[in-house]
Amino acid sequence: MAYIHGTEAGEQARLSELNRMTNQAFVGFLGVAAGERVLEVGSGLGLLAAGVAGSAAGVEVTGVEKSAEQLAAAMRAPGVRYVRGDAQQLGFAPGSFDVVYARYLLEHVADAAAVVSEMRRVLRPGGRIALQENDISLLRVDPPCPAFEEVWSAFAAYQRQLGGDALIGRRLFRLLRDAGFAGIEISVQPEVHWQGSPGFESWIRNLIGNIAGATGLGRSGLCTGERIEEAAAELEELIEREDASSIFVWNRAAAGGPRLPRPGERCIP
Ligand SMILES: C[S@@+](CC[C@H](N)C(=O)[O-])C[C@H]1O[C@@H](n2cnc3c(N)ncnc32)[C@H](O)[C@@H]1O
Repeated sequence: MAYIHGTEAGEQARLSELNRMTNQAFVGFLGVAAGERVLEVGSGLGLLAAGVAGSAAGVEVTGVEKSAEQLAAAMRAPGVRYVRGDAQQLGFAPGSFDVVYARYLLEHVADAAAVVSEMRRVLRPGGRIALQENDISLLRVDPPCPAFEEVWSAFAAYQRQLGGDALIGRRLFRLLRDAGFAGIEISVQPEVHWQGSPGFESWIRNLIGNIAGATGLGRSGLCTGERIEEAAAELEELIEREDASSIFVWNRAAAGGPRLPRPGERCIP
């Protein structure tokens, strides 16, 4: 299916900046131990993979990515290797990894359950899985930005049209449970920004990049290019306002432990 963000240089710059804003918290959440074999599914520009590899001694991270453009631009770092492939059909033997994770990927795939099932297959018994995804309906900006809110809803509808799910963050617990994981915990990584706080402008610029860079959104029939420009202009004004703020949370889920149930076996909490 088409990747809503595309892989143009401007979009790669937005993704790099988003990594700068969100990697430290995710690396802490993942908490890999020395020497673990780790898989990132949908590794994009490799910035997170590099951060994970550098977070403990001897960690080896394999990044699977389907886009040749992303792989060509991906960061080379000690302990990181890349493999071109599709998340829905991972080319690894069962039990190959101690930790598997995906971040900002499941919203883009046609069959998120197939991806999670593949992640489970390549995880060793007792290994850990971690996910972090979007539910874009959780975003709030204030003062209100009506054109942006209209375009943001159109963005979610467009992603659905492409075969993805911009609201998938709310489904993470169910996805892991349906794949047979036990000991699942869900949590959030907050994005709380206000005028004057260090991340405010970067966060709003990330939102502008999302709508301005969404390949085909203006021709989708769900909103016009003109409306996207109005929405971006509203957010540019928000960046200047003394009374502006925004709240969002990334949805996270993790599971794993000493023993994982086999497919079809009852989950033991
Ligand atoms: C928003 S980026 C996230 C990259 C990285 N995980 C991060 O957190 O920065 C999503 C990436 O998933 C890749 N992708 C989308 N569908 C995929 C699939 N079916 N298999 C592998 N990679 C895929 C895209 O090409 C893109 O590089």
